[in-house]
Amino acid sequence: MNALLVVASRHGSTTEIGDIVDRELAKNGVEVERYTPDSVASVSGYDAVIIGSGVYASRWLKSARSFIDKYHEQLVDMTVWLFSSGPTQDEPIEDTSKFAAIDDIIQKVQPSEHRVFAGNIDKSKLNLGEKAIIKMVKAPYGDFRDETAIKEWTADISKQISK
Ligand SMILES: Cc1cc2nc3c(=O)[nH]c(=O)nc-3n(C[C@H](O)[C@H](O)[C@H](O)COP(=O)(O)O)c2cc1C
Repeated sequence: MNALLVVASRHGSTTEIGDIVDRELAKNGVEVERYTPDSVASVSGYDAVIIGSGVYASRWLKSARSFIDKYHEQLVDMTVWLFSSGPTQDEPIEDTSKFAAIDDIIQKVQPSEHRVFAGNIDKSKLNLGEKAIIKMVKAPYGDFRDETAIKEWTADISKQISK
């Protein structure tokens, strides 16, 4: 079984979530090919596609949105999982649309699931504009990523890919 893993990240936190997903898929016997959205040449020939992006102002990063625009007609006929890396909070993420307004993407590719994982805001990596936004929306700084949740999700989708 093989999977295409596509991860978009601005400041590196979603890339690191991608690292965990990549490792867990491999551990569960899935052969993984991993790319950034801009470097994908084709989505053909994979048993599953997993696409993740950091969320900014409720949207996926532009490279991830462009990837969906380019490939959605093929992706809709494939087995696809989506994940977003967003909120900096410990509370359970119940209403995913509150953090990642990606209904248009969900509509286009009809994924098996869209999961929002808690994210990481590292003040030292932000530019002035980003710091101003974080101040305005009063989002907490810090690393709220939950490695266990990411591993469990990946183990679960690995089982489904291997069925
Ligand atoms: C300027 C700015 C805007 C953000 N907007 C959102 C948002 O609308 N929803 C959300 O859940 N997280 C938001 N976040 C949190 C990021 O999605 C989170 O930090 C994510 O882990 C970043 O991933 P990256 O390091 O891969 O870019 C925002 C962060 C910044 C710095």
